Amino acid sequence: MIKSLLKKTKRQNKSREEERLLKRLDPARLPVHVAIIMDGNGRWAQARGLPRALGHRTGVETLRNIVKLCLELRIKILTVFAFSTENWKRPQEEIKILMDLLCEYIQKELNDLHRKHIQIRAIGHIFELPPRAQKELARAQEVTSQNNELILNIALNYGGRLEIVDAARNLALRVKNGELDPAEINEFIFKKYLYTADLPDPDLLIRPAGELRISNFLLWQMAYTEFWSTPVFWPDFRPAHFLQALISFQHRKRRFGGL
Ligand code: FPP
Repeated sequence: MIKSLLKKTKRQNKSREEERLLKRLDPARLPVHVAIIMDGNGRWAQARGLPRALGHRTGVETLRNIVKLCLELRIKILTVFAFSTENWKRPQEEIKILMDLLCEYIQKELNDLHRKHIQIRAIGHIFELPPRAQKELARAQEVTSQNNELILNIALNYGGRLEIVDAARNLALRVKNGELDPAEINEFIFKKYLYTADLPDPDLLIRPAGELRISNFLLWQMAYTEFWSTPVFWPDFRPAHFLQALISFQHRKRRFGGL
């Protein structure tokens, strides 16, 4: 698979760096689920004297390229943090730009994503997003629901603590209705109440823009996720950075608390 990718590199105009990194990749040890905190759009724009909106727009371009690479590498799940429960604190104008970009992304890309058999999912309090964003997300999820090449899981109005509280509330409701015995609740049952109930936990978390924190992203699911960070801002994040993260991941010894 990596060989066929390398053959394609010339045609696709991949950089020499990408070619070099692809050769170092072990196709048998790729992560199944990669999570990304798409950070640094604002700082990227500010450093260039550009409006923050342009940072976000360029960030969408990066997302497009990374989705393409995940597909080529046959990575099965990509979860991206696009809007946190804390992002409502931003100026109204920036919130509107982010929602517009989301709608534009779906309007422009849906046919292509569907053609490539990508399944789109959204996690978070989607029902609190502007109606137009809810409508586009519902359409995208419906159209692509049977696709199985790659799951593109978009976290929107998402908070890790909120997700855990939601799960606890739904479990409590089942106990209240006499459908569940509290003594039966264990980690396995609890996981079934998370937004990612049917997905494996992320193997790798990538965080650009140099911050070394989880920022309320997939708190339950990250218990044993490998972390990779780079100072590069998300709009400057290239396929080569993604490949570097994968290579670093492949050199880790994952013991999951064992020996
Ligand atoms: C973090 O950068 C990024 C966000 C809060 C938004 C990410 C959203 C997109 C890339 C576009 C919309 C999403 C989709 C799925 C089309 P920041 O603004 O916090 O950067 P800063 O920390 O440098 O200010």
